Amino acid sequence: MAARRPLIAGNWKMFGRRASLGELSQLWAAVADAAAGIDVLICPPAPYIQNAAWAARETGLLIGAQDCSPAADDAARTGEVSAAMLKDAGARYVIVGHSERRALHGEGNALVRQKADAALAAGLTPIICVGETQAERAAGRVAEIVGVQVRESAPADPRIVIAYEPVWAIGGTATPTIPEIAEVHALIRENLRASLSGEANGVRILYGGSVGPKNAAEVFSAEGVDGALVGRASLKAADFSAIILGHPAART
Ligand code: 13P
Repeated sequence: MAARRPLIAGNWKMFGRRASLGELSQLWAAVADAAAGIDVLICPPAPYIQNAAWAARETGLLIGAQDCSPAADDAARTGEVSAAMLKDAGARYVIVGHSERRALHGEGNALVRQKADAALAAGLTPIICVGETQAERAAGRVAEIVGVQVRESAPADPRIVIAYEPVWAIGGTATPTIPEIAEVHALIRENLRASLSGEANGVRILYGGSVGPKNAAEVFSAEGVDGALVGRASLKAADFSAIILGHPAART
């Protein structure tokens, strides 16, 4: 089967202002030549998606969202934004089930699954986040926790993307070792096989958690890693472009 196309995604979380969108043209100027074989995605805060899509219109950059409503149809849901609206505003992808939403908003696997289904129904690619806490890793429960998250959060659809983001590796400096990352990516694919059989081979699995210019190339060298989901280091074009140029598929 065809090789999986790398995807390097920036999650801006609740950072930035409209002026931050100036980073997009700088980013594209730095990676345009090298990134022909890589999908490069920026997920700004929701109010900026439309402006971001406009700013990226003559570039190869993709724009995505950080969350969506689980409701597929228009509904009386004050404050929520549907996947169809995000698509209409120019998004192509949407992150669902990020650990910050799981922890701060009590989102469980069933809700994350509904959001991923709503994204697919609207024509968006869901990036479904999974990952264990420090305590779960210390207790030897990585395979159990991540396995349940994948089986219960991920629709049986080969268009999905999974992001493995160990909760303890987000926002700090610690990361799993390269063999540990490879091990979890393999077990995620194994769990996808339960619902997708051979099509599981086509699903892209990203690593996220303290990826930066210094460790990106090493992370990309891990077996089964199809790209990265980057937080802090995606906010500045200089850092994010260095990460992208560290991918083996980047032509230098
Ligand atoms: P950092 O790259 O800032 O650790 O954040 C990772 C993350 O949560 C991306 O979704």
